[in-house]
Order: sequence, then C-alpha cells, then structure tokens
Amino acid sequence: MTQPLVPVLTANWGQERSWKLDSYVAQGGYRALRLALGRSAAEVMAEVKDAQLRGRGGAGFPTGLKWSFVPQDNPNPKYLVVNGDESEPGTCKDVPLLMASPHTLVEGVIISAYAIGAHTAFIYVRGEVLHPIRRVRQAVEEAYAAGYLGRDVLGSGFDLDIIVHAGAGAYICGEETALLNSLEGRRGQPRLRPPFPAVAGLYASPTVINNVESIASVPAIIARGKDWFTSMGTEKSKGFTIYSLSGHVAHPGQYEAPLGLTMARLLELAGGVRAGHQLKFFTPGGSSTPILTAEHLDTRLDYEGLAEVGTMLGTKAMQIFDETTSVVRTTLRWVEFYKHESCGKCTPCREGTWWLVQLLHKLEAGQGQDGDVDKLLSVCDDITGKTFCTLAEGAVACVTSAVRHFRSEFEVGYTTPAWEHLPYDASALFPVESEGGRA
Ligand SMILES: Cc1cc2nc3c(=O)[nH]c(=O)nc-3n(C[C@H](O)[C@H](O)[C@H](O)COP(=O)(O)O)c2cc1C
Ligand code: SF4
Repeated sequence: MTQPLVPVLTANWGQERSWKLDSYVAQGGYRALRLALGRSAAEVMAEVKDAQLRGRGGAGFPTGLKWSFVPQDNPNPKYLVVNGDESEPGTCKDVPLLMASPHTLVEGVIISAYAIGAHTAFIYVRGEVLHPIRRVRQAVEEAYAAGYLGRDVLGSGFDLDIIVHAGAGAYICGEETALLNSLEGRRGQPRLRPPFPAVAGLYASPTVINNVESIASVPAIIARGKDWFTSMGTEKSKGFTIYSLSGHVAHPGQYEAPLGLTMARLLELAGGVRAGHQLKFFTPGGSSTPILTAEHLDTRLDYEGLAEVGTMLGTKAMQIFDETTSVVRTTLRWVEFYKHESCGKCTPCREGTWWLVQLLHKLEAGQGQDGDVDKLLSVCDDITGKTFCTLAEGAVACVTSAVRHFRSEFEVGYTTPAWEHLPYDASALFPVESEGGRA
C-alpha cells in the first residue's frame, strides 16, 4: 500500500531534453492519446472516474465526477481550463512538471478535453515563471505540428485548440472563479457560486477547471488502467502524487509516491531534517494548511489521515522547519503574504489580514501586551466563515495552528523580540546579511 517512490509523472524528468516531443514520444508519450481516441468519450470519462483520481490542486474533489457535471446537452461550447497558477508558499510541483515534461500535460489536456467534449482548452500559467511558460508554448506548437492538436486530431475527427495564457502574478487568480475572470480580461476576484463553472464558467459556458497535476495524471490512467491506479494509495485516496519538500531538509525536491505515506517515511526518503537538527514543525500541504509537529510524523499523508489531525493534504507541499526556527516570524511571513494577496473584495479578509500582520509585528518585535495572543485568535474568529473565498482561511489556519502548538513562544513576544529568542541567522539556509541575529 505504501511502497516508496513510484515515478510516473516524474519518470522522464532526468531524460535528455525531456521537454521535447521526440524525447517524450521515445518514452511512450502520446500512446495514451491513441488509446483514448479509440474509445468513446464516455468510456474515457468512466475510466478516470473509476480510477478515483482526486483533484491535486488542494481540495481533492473527484476529477471524473467533476467532468460528469458538464451538461452535454448545453448548446454552448465546453471549455477545459488547466490551473497552473501555483503560487501557494511552499508549493512546487506543477511548475517543475511544466518545465521538465510539458508534453505530459499537453497529452492530458487532449484526452481530458476529448472526454468532456471541449474543443478549446486553456492552460493558465503563473506569469512569473517565464521559462516554463516558454516550454509549454513550445510543446503546444510541437503537438500542433505532429497532428496531436488542431483539426482532426490523429484522424479521429476530434478538433482541439490549446491556448496558453500567462497570468499577471496574483495568488488569488489560482482560485478557480477568479482565474476565469482573469482569463476573460476582468479583475481577478472570485465569483459568487452557484452557478458553478461546470454549468456557467468561462464566457458563461460549461467549464471544467483542473489542476496541472490532475490533468497530467490522466494519460497514465488511460495507458495503464484504473486497476493499476487504484492499487496504489489508501481506501479513499487512490494513486500516486508529487510531494514537494523544502526548508530544513537534507534533500529538498519533488518526491513522487503513493498517497498515504507517513511523513516519517517521506522525510527519511529525503535524507531527514538537515544534519544536527530536529524537526520543530511542518506544513502538510502548503502554508494554508494548519501546521503539524514532530508528534504527527506517523500521520498518513492522505486526505482522511490529515483531516483526522485537524489539517489538510492541500498541495502536498511539506515545508520543514527545525528547532532553530521562530514560529512567530514564520507565521508573520505567511500572513504578510495573505494580506498582500487579499483581493480586497470582502472586509473580514481585507481588514482582518491587516490586523493579524499588525499584531504579529508587535509580537515579533517583543512589543506585545498581555492579551495580544487572545486578540490574535479573536481576529481569526472574526474572519473564519465570513469571507467570500478560502484565501483568508489560509491566513487563519497559519495563526491558529501555530498558536495551538506554540502558544508560549508567541507570549515570549510580550517581553522579548523573536530574533533574540531564536536568532534568525541560525535558521537561515543561505548566508544572509544580518543585524544582531535579525536576518
Ligand atoms: C486563493 C486560492 C488559490 C488557489 N490556487 C490554486 C492554484 O494555484 N492551482 C490550483 O490548481 N488550484 C488552486 N486553487 C484551488 C482551485 O480553486 C481549484 O479548486 C482547483 O484548481 C481545482 O482543480 P482540481 O480539482 O484538479 O484540484 C486555489 C484556491 C484558492 C482559494
Ligand atoms: S476572502 Fe479575501 S481573497 Fe477571497 S474574495 Fe474575500 S477579499 Fe478576496
């Protein structure tokens, strides 16, 4: 059930010029597309549904089920939109995939579009990652030239165009409805739901939005079948995924393994916490998922296992922090990000993240007052459940989980600056200019 590394999406990353079409085809690429086009769209959709693939963008919604919500009798065009905005702190799996093997995604897009009856697909990539955007664009051009895209794909009668769109660097544009607004040239702010995108999404037409990794997993499912996929993972979290490890870990990077591995095993595969240090805390799925501590090393890394300990699998981005790290400073850095990225549409998020930053700044500087930690939690309470989208819940999750596990460290901020309590130089991974331990 929990055998270690299973390179599937990452299998060709080490190949010579792995991003080129000839390299991808030499590794068996586009074989799944031929298989898919030999079946009906409904059969392809059923295979993905039965494989129990769950969305890899954070929420874990079943991919095949999402596809089945697209009303096929709607006369409007259907669209497939791939979410490659990847901007969550710590998350680093989609961009490496786009860089190393863009054809895996392109092949997945063609098969998925065929399954839902879309003839236009969009790949929305985070604007700052220029090099991966060029790679994806080049892969799309190669696929057109080879007859995998355009009119009458491989003589099947199926037509498909792919448009690669570069975002403009806003985290909120990763939220699926803000992404649709952004694609339409509007301000990137979330939309009210219902209607859900499957019914009225891009240009008010039926739209499926899926994460890069979700769509890139489709060719392997079609080529090797649902039984192969469901043989990996746990009861309700099937298959493999890309975990990304960063921070105080011996060998940071992307590790592809079945869902359900324990953090202890994953950490072991990555060479453990950096030499001479111990784990203090980690995020299981990016900065918006409540942090865990060394007590949770044996927790299963799947949707259910993490929910049991009050957190989430999210984007499977493990940021590892050792005992030298100031949890106050780390929390402040994360919350500053959410404050900066708040789209401003709703007051509890716009104002609440601002207040969280003010309070955390005081605590970091050792200028907090008795009761400030409770005030911090009270602001979190004012935000929770009162916002339009879950960006603000991410900020709340950082604060509440950090206070739950390390309350006394926050209270140190009533008298002592965080950089004196835990000098920042000690936790730096790279040499930094510092002022009295305050990097
Ligand atoms: C603030 C915010 C940012 C998000 N950023 C991303 C992102 O960069 N990539 C992504 O796939 N999903 C992101 N999501 C989740 C998407 O809204 C959506 O659930 C996901 O793209 C669906 O794909 P999946 O079903 O394949 O997981 C974000 C959500 C929120 C609230
Ligand atoms: S929660 Fe924040 S990011 Fe989301 S809509 Fe409201 S203001 Fe915008």
